[in-house]
Amino acid sequence: MLSDLGSVPSDEILTLMQMHREDPRRDKIDQTVGVYRNELGQTPVMQAVKAAEYKIWQDQTSKSYTGLLGDPEFLEVMQALVLGPEAPPCTAAAVPGGSGACRQAFELIRQATPGARVYVSDPTWANHTTMLAHTGLARETYRFRDPATGGLNFDGMMQDLGTARAGDVVLLHGCCHNPTGISLTRTQWRALADRMAKNGLVGMIDLAYLGFGDGLEEDAWGTRHLAETLDECLIAVSCSKNFGLYRERAGALLVTARNPALLAHTREVLAYLNRQAYSFPPDHGARIVTSILKDPALREVWTQELHGIRNSIAALRLQLCNAFAEKTGTRRFDYIREHKGMFSCLGATPEQVRTLRAKHGIYMVTDSRLNFASLSQQNVERIVDAVTDVGI
Ligand code: LMR
Repeated sequence: MLSDLGSVPSDEILTLMQMHREDPRRDKIDQTVGVYRNELGQTPVMQAVKAAEYKIWQDQTSKSYTGLLGDPEFLEVMQALVLGPEAPPCTAAAVPGGSGACRQAFELIRQATPGARVYVSDPTWANHTTMLAHTGLARETYRFRDPATGGLNFDGMMQDLGTARAGDVVLLHGCCHNPTGISLTRTQWRALADRMAKNGLVGMIDLAYLGFGDGLEEDAWGTRHLAETLDECLIAVSCSKNFGLYRERAGALLVTARNPALLAHTREVLAYLNRQAYSFPPDHGARIVTSILKDPALREVWTQELHGIRNSIAALRLQLCNAFAEKTGTRRFDYIREHKGMFSCLGATPEQVRTLRAKHGIYMVTDSRLNFASLSQQNVERIVDAVTDVGI
């Protein structure tokens, strides 16, 4: 049997991480995976998380199973965090992280409308593309990054989404787009939501970086607006980045619908899909999130920690932008300052990205994704010198 296993696509982010690890050069720079590191290059456990874990350790009396959809309190706090007080009718499932949420969303789409096409931005997070291929759903792309400005090609995006049929799904990044860092303005979210509602399109939002852009409420605005405007929305939420819970695999899939009667059946299907994939979802990370969000003091500690991370990324963006301006005598890298979250795209060719790696020891994904989560003040100059040296 095993000899019949066909080949599988390799995961570029994980492959590059490994190559970086094996590179003996002392001054190599890891720009690969989206994991936040502080100035010391560490990914510390957040103080709020430590305190919540201690509380759980003290209070928890059983490790018996929760429900197939996870702990109801976790689902409640996630809905409130993402959708706010005006939330449309919603059902939810706990899932293993943001990838688990996307995967279960694709499974739900396949279960309901196997012929639906899923529109993804060009570019998008590589795992969206491979997961779609894996689940057998048809994929279409819409224009997103404008190579001329490094910003959003909103007209191109709207034009491409004009080819979507009723029932097709549009996958959007709720904030801090991965890999481009581009965010939609509120005016653009409104226009997009109106067009999607008019054409009967289903919204799917990947919300992996809530709190990394402009703040928790601000970053949730587009998602909330879409969920309020559309008949149906799937929202894949990750707690990996904003709670620093990467390995705990905490996440949720929220499903909103204007017709609340449909949600009871959707809930059953979500439970079924969890049961078929892994049965009960992981609980420890979810419980940490619940403890933090339900305790006003811990919530404040967490909010401030997240605020600190957001500020340090914004400061690095500014520093890099100014360093580019000084080096090139132009403001052509100013788009980096406008972008939000962990990433921006340089718009380099694959050949230039390969040269960055071979000549300068800078490991970057082929879509030329700059990773601010892994950048420090000390290596800004080296990045600027290397990027200009390879002709970007
Ligand atoms: C990334 O884009 O680097 C992160 O979302 C981590 C991952 O799993 O790919």
